[in-house]
This record gives sequence, C-alpha cells and structure tokens, in this order.
Amino acid sequence: MNEIIKSLNDRKSVRVFEDKEISAIDKEAIINAAIQAPSAGNQTMYTIIDVTDQELLTNLSKSCDNQPFIAKAKLALIFCADYQKWIDTFSIVENNPRKPGVGELLLGCNDALIAAQNAVVAAESLGIGSCYIGDIMEKYEYHKEVLNLPRYVFPVTMIVFGYPTEQQAKRKKPKRFDKQYVVHENTYKRMDDKTLEKMFVDRANLTPEVPFEFNTWVHAFYNRKYDSDFSKEMTRSIKAYIKDFDDE
Ligand SMILES: Cc1cc2nc3c(=O)[nH]c(=O)nc-3n(C[C@H](O)[C@H](O)[C@H](O)COP(=O)(O)O)c2cc1C
Repeated sequence: MNEIIKSLNDRKSVRVFEDKEISAIDKEAIINAAIQAPSAGNQTMYTIIDVTDQELLTNLSKSCDNQPFIAKAKLALIFCADYQKWIDTFSIVENNPRKPGVGELLLGCNDALIAAQNAVVAAESLGIGSCYIGDIMEKYEYHKEVLNLPRYVFPVTMIVFGYPTEQQAKRKKPKRFDKQYVVHENTYKRMDDKTLEKMFVDRANLTPEVPFEFNTWVHAFYNRKYDSDFSKEMTRSIKAYIKDFDDE
C-alpha cells in the first residue's frame, strides 16, 4: 500500500490537541494544498477564512454547538462557498448579470469541500490532526455578522487543526460501512429493511467489544443526532440563508 493510501485509511478526527504551535511553513503548506484542489471550471468558488483572532475562535466554539475543543485549535480554517467574487467580477463588465442561483451555490459548496479535504490530507501528512466542524452552517445570521459575509458567501465547513495528544493518536478509528453497502453498480439500489439492519450489524461486528442491538442503537442515534436541536438549527439556518440568497 502506498503512503498516500495508507494515510487516507488511517486518518481519523482529532479533538484534543497538544499545546504545540503549527509552524508558519506547515500552515502555508496546508493552505496551498487546499488551493491546489480542483474546482469547477477552475473558478475557485470558495474563500478560506483563516481565524487568527482567539476571541473570535472562542465565540465560534460556542456558536458551533458549544464544542470547547474548537477554541483550543492551533489553526482554524472556514471554507466558504463564494459566488460573490464572480458576481462582482461580472458586474464590472456585464450590464445586468443574472443573479446566481442554487446551482452556483451547490457548485461552490463542492469546490469548498474538495479544497477542505485537501487541507485535511496535507495536514495528516505533516502529523497534524484535524476535525471538521459542520456546525458552522448553523446560526447563519450570527456567522454572517461576525465573519462579515456578503450575500453570496456561505460558510460550508470549518476545520480545526492541531497535533494530536497521545490519547487521540491511539484512539481507535471508527469503522466504516462495508463497501457492498456504499458502492452500487450502475444504478442506485434502495436497501430493504433486512439489508439496512445487516449493514449496521456488520459494522458493529468489526468492533465486537461494543455491545450492539439494532433497534436500541438506531433509536439512540435518532435522538442524539437526527432529532437533536443542533440538526434542526442547521436546517433552519440553511433555509434562512437560501431565502436571503434567492430573494429578488
Ligand atoms: C461534514 C462534517 C461535519 C462534522 N462536524 C463535526 C463537528 O461539528 N464536531 C465534531 O466533533 N466532529 C465533526 N465531524 C467529524 C465526524 O464526526 C467524524 O469524521 C466521524 O465520526 C468519523 O470519525 P473519524 O473522522 O474519526 O474517522 C464532522 C465530519 C464531517 C465530514
């Protein structure tokens, strides 16, 4: 197995960081790797906000569903879908450019996330751990204000970085679903109840020390994640953004 594939296989989230700074050279390498990612039509429909203000980061750790470890990150980058720079460019030359639509928004989200994953992979290669923070999509109105976001810019994800503590480095990586459930040949195959249950049981069997009972597990997960306040806030926040984005 080559080193890149091994690194991709081994990578897991890191949420507790050593008190060790990331050097300017390594930070530069991480950001450059992000910028080297492909983007649709080479448009770079994203902007990276490098959060260097500790007070802002502490506030973000609260607004992003109260996750205190965010405030202890040694590097925090917010990847924003950005069509503002394109519509501003078009406006210089075109008389009445059409308004960006949800197509541009989703394409910008693709660009932002692909660049983000490049940053994660680059950091990993330097021994620097990372964790995605999806909650940056919550509290749209607040994030718009504190990050000074114009209409066609939306924070898709934040990534926090730092060197893993020994405990984090040793933490077992959560198992993934087996490939048979993830890859469908040619057309989508909707899974029946039995297959769905087996998908979870198979994954749980990879870590047999953790007791698993399908109904109990799904019920707890439903309550903890899907039906949680933060999930509902995410939907509210994104809806509010799209309304502003789309307003005439
Ligand atoms: C889009 C996205 C958003 C995430 N948001 C959070 C988050 O807000 N807080 C957190 O602790 N982990 C977050 N994670 C990390 C996932 O929980 C983690 O990747 C997953 O449980 C698999 O674990 P692993 O990365 O250690 O393999 C996020 C991951 C992704 C891809």
